[in-house]
Amino acid sequence: MRKPIIAGNWKMFKTRDEAIAFIYKVSEAMPSIKEVDSVICAQAPLMRCLIKRQGENLRIGAQNVFYEDEGAYTGELSGKLLNSYNVDYVIIGHSERRNIFNETDEMVNKKIKAALRNDLLPIVCVGEHLEERENNLTNQLLTTQIKAAFKGISAIDMERIVIAYEPIWAIGTGKTATADQAEETCAFIRTLVREMYGSVVADAIRIQYGGSVKPANIDEIISKANIDGALIGGAALDADMFITMVNAAVKK
Ligand code: 13P
Repeated sequence: MRKPIIAGNWKMFKTRDEAIAFIYKVSEAMPSIKEVDSVICAQAPLMRCLIKRQGENLRIGAQNVFYEDEGAYTGELSGKLLNSYNVDYVIIGHSERRNIFNETDEMVNKKIKAALRNDLLPIVCVGEHLEERENNLTNQLLTTQIKAAFKGISAIDMERIVIAYEPIWAIGTGKTATADQAEETCAFIRTLVREMYGSVVADAIRIQYGGSVKPANIDEIISKANIDGALIGGAALDADMFITMVNAAVKK
């Protein structure tokens, strides 16, 4: 049995006051960590005020980490620092980082290693462009991304990782992959992990779907056998919607 995980990715949204209002509203309403892992990944300065108010049932995560722990890297975020602030999760390899900031598979691999050595749980994003899907190249692309991302990662570490399947064409577009499309691709990812790491890891690793998830479609998405949760952008900015979506995962 895999515990579902619902993560909000706030991207570059919310001021301090808005973040505090959200956490006050949401913290009390979160179901138990025994039933679901709930996470909000916020910009670095916001994380600090959220962490002060985080409880066991709602954890705060980062949206990025650099692959070195310290040094002359202006503007980057250290895994060692995140760990010292009691941060649990970090998103790595989001398509916006890959496409806007030119992050490569090799950098993603180094960042996963940096997260693991600093006791952070990586949420590793993979996903195809529309053109790749239309040309039947989705599985090939995902194989390349996953093999490169997890190069040199041990089976024990692999069980701590969450994979987020986020088709780029469904992010922020309102165009959700159908629940069947999402399930088919998440099942493919699990099969690939099985080939690479064996059944124990493949059965344990959690795979999320991300891309225009909202209260109206989460029930169907989360009901699928290979989908263990969601990575949510826009809809996770709203406290009531976030509460609804976390509760949808409890029913799984
Ligand atoms: P939306 O839910 O806004 O489509 O964003 C998805 C996403 O990129 C989460 O990381």
